[in-house]
Amino acid sequence: MALPSEAQVLEALSRIQDPDLHRDIVSLGMIKDLRIGPDGVVAFTFELTTPACPVRDQFQTQARELVGALPGVKDVQLRMTSNVRPAFMQRGDGEGNGRLIPGVKQTIAVASGKGGVGKSTIAVNLAAGLAQTGAKVGLLDADIYGPSLPRMLGTAAQPKVVEDRLIPIEAHGLKLMSIGLLAGADKAMVWRGPLVGKAVEQFLADVTWGELDYLVVDLPPGTGDASLTLAQRISLSGVVIVATPQDVALDIAVKALQMFRTVNVTPLGLVENMSWYICPDCGHESHPFTHGSGEKTAERLGVPFLGAVPLEEAIREDADRGAPIVVTRPDSPGAKALRQIAEKVAAQSSIRSFRQLPVINVR
Ligand SMILES: Nc1ncnc2c1ncn2[C@@H]1O[C@H](COP(=O)(O)OP(=O)(O)OP(=O)(O)O)[C@@H](O)[C@H]1O
Ligand SMILES: [Mg+2]
Repeated sequence: MALPSEAQVLEALSRIQDPDLHRDIVSLGMIKDLRIGPDGVVAFTFELTTPACPVRDQFQTQARELVGALPGVKDVQLRMTSNVRPAFMQRGDGEGNGRLIPGVKQTIAVASGKGGVGKSTIAVNLAAGLAQTGAKVGLLDADIYGPSLPRMLGTAAQPKVVEDRLIPIEAHGLKLMSIGLLAGADKAMVWRGPLVGKAVEQFLADVTWGELDYLVVDLPPGTGDASLTLAQRISLSGVVIVATPQDVALDIAVKALQMFRTVNVTPLGLVENMSWYICPDCGHESHPFTHGSGEKTAERLGVPFLGAVPLEEAIREDADRGAPIVVTRPDSPGAKALRQIAEKVAAQSSIRSFRQLPVINVR
């Protein structure tokens, strides 16, 4: 039987649509190394835009079925890989691709309108959730007033200094850097006013992160000077806003969002934390707050809703014990919600980087 041509294979594969990017996977450049063997074996690489792709399995099945159904195809050899695209950033001077931290593809900040809403908890689990998918992930504790990430990751290791530069420490598969590791969490409170910018800049410039797919940045609470300074000095590819149902009601999240818009940081979306309550004894779920308010607010603000996280004692317990719940109790409701959020964040980051790229015409 005659073999299919390369164009026929690509035509079949182009029926697969990326649900987030709203384009077919062939024109997005996701099919690589296509080979059609004389024995009817079709081999190719399917390169996802993130290892955290939520539709990875679906893509794989579809690709196998579509190509396998072509006349003359005896076998489909499919290799799934991923390649996180670097964020495209528009700088004030009009130049694109201004990347402050060399080797880091996506820099994602976690922020909130006020303190204590679970920013650091979300940041740690977002980073760990991304790392679980195989991504190379760093975590920067930029909360210079109250760095809590060393505690949440159960480490107090001193970063090494090599050629005057700080080497992040490793914890739970992540690279971590925090002022808390340098100064000791208690001394970190001394940074004030103009010193904040200087300290942070120095701190950022002096860390060797190496190659990272994602750098998650835990920002200080609120929309004050420190957050603003940071948002401006770190070339952030996007920001995740964390809010509780009460903040959503009080529009506190809106203020945070507006602040990031004024400094041209793309909002990747809104996370509602402590949305519903899970009883630690019986697992019963209760919903003291109006359901869906976070989702409605996100819609009103025109930003994606990234998901809701339950108020679950295990989340706090594990944070206090120094391990993210996505690692320690992957099957708990909280961990599942947090992993889904990590996938959505990765998907949103992909969308933002792709929006700027031309269509790849492979035919
Ligand atoms: N979904 C949750 N379920 C249970 N406990 C949570 C949840 N989210 C956060 N917590 C707990 O709430 C407290 C505050 O969380 P966290 O430190 O992450 O907030 P934050 O916004 O970073 O605070 P800050 O503004 O002080 O930096 C912590 O004790 C944390 O373990
Ligand atoms: Mg915090």
